[in-house]
Amino acid sequence: MAKIQIRSSVGRYEVHCGEGMLARGGSLVVGLGESTGTFVLSSPRVWKWCGRRISDTFRGKQVRGVILFDDREANKRLATVEKIQRTLVRAGADRRCVLIAVGGGVVGDVAGFVAASYLRGVRLVHVPTTLLAQVDSSLGGKTGVDLPEGKNLVGAFYPPQVVIADSSLLETLPHRELRSGLYEVVKYGVIADRELFAYVQRHMPSLLRRDPKALSWVIERCIRIKARVVTKDEHEDGPRQILNFGHTLGHALETATGYKRFVHGEAIGWGMLAATMLGAATGRIDEREAARIIRLIASVGPLPSIAAIKASDLARIVAGDKKALRGKARWVLPVKIGKVVWGEEVPWKLAARAFGELLGILAKARE
Ligand SMILES: NC(=O)c1ccc[n+]([C@@H]2O[C@H](COP(=O)([O-])OP(=O)(O)OC[C@H]3O[C@@H](n4cnc5c(N)ncnc54)[C@H](O)[C@@H]3O)[C@@H](O)[C@H]2O)c1
Ligand SMILES: [Zn+2]
Repeated sequence: MAKIQIRSSVGRYEVHCGEGMLARGGSLVVGLGESTGTFVLSSPRVWKWCGRRISDTFRGKQVRGVILFDDREANKRLATVEKIQRTLVRAGADRRCVLIAVGGGVVGDVAGFVAASYLRGVRLVHVPTTLLAQVDSSLGGKTGVDLPEGKNLVGAFYPPQVVIADSSLLETLPHRELRSGLYEVVKYGVIADRELFAYVQRHMPSLLRRDPKALSWVIERCIRIKARVVTKDEHEDGPRQILNFGHTLGHALETATGYKRFVHGEAIGWGMLAATMLGAATGRIDEREAARIIRLIASVGPLPSIAAIKASDLARIVAGDKKALRGKARWVLPVKIGKVVWGEEVPWKLAARAFGELLGILAKARE
């Protein structure tokens, strides 16, 4: 079990991680100081699996209500925020209440934005229940919802008071969601931590089996990296951009397929393959290192096909991305395992070529 600190412009908060950490949830919430009651925000699906444990943890801690909302991505929108906030008003939630978000990234992003904007801000606790949420979305203070025009277009930086990441909550996670998180774990290895990369390489079968020791080890390691990066650059003006490794093309794939074909990590899996090939094609990373990255991504499991997706559609989407600069895509490219460069411009012709070769490269890595 570990306690990791993150500094943000409005103060510090702690991430408590480890198997069984939830048992300390009650005292961590009490430790936040006086409140007029807590409200748990979650989804029916998450509640079905985790509700009993969460209720036991926070029993007697002034829980005044459990508000469940559908956590499909399509429901990550302003209408859901309004509905939850109206429920809070009717329940008499005031500025000194505490919201506890229990769920994956969708629940966390919506609940985070609810907390940021309800009565101009109430305290927030994250209890992430997906691997992706434990290593990524519950950390760093980004909250928000989608618009019909695009993902995450409305939101706020709003750090939680505390994050409780208990790996035992992942036991019930659908296998595909576990693998989705593992792609982000691979990402951390490539961008910042050679030892993590090697560990994941050695322990992939245990991780896929959800071996508690292996899972806890990588989760803590990833949280430490994200904590370091967002403490240095909370608002993504600079080095936080390394976290977008694989996301330039990954986001474009998600958009091109209407967020239906890939779960997030899978799109990032493809995106990391493309960025790695681009790194190699432009001489930034040597072929042997690139081949190791490609093999590790392939070992996470099958990826939904990209065969019917046109590179020209991706070009249009990438240029219009909110992270593009004057219509030019910015790439995060590996220079070796454990180190990337960010803000890189690459001729689209090279990116399109890498995209065209992806299927073949992945098949070869699996041989
Ligand atoms: N704020 C950030 O910094 C940040 C970073 C990355 C991603 N995100 C956002 O996160 C979202 C994706 O989050 P996600 O990958 O966690 O997926 P998710 O929230 O969609 O959850 C995936 C599925 O798993 C179910 N689930 C969650 N926990 C479970 C458990 N313990 N047992 C069984 N089922 C469980 C959910 O009900 C859902 O059906 C996207 O909207 C993305 O934009 C935000
Ligand atoms: Zn991601």
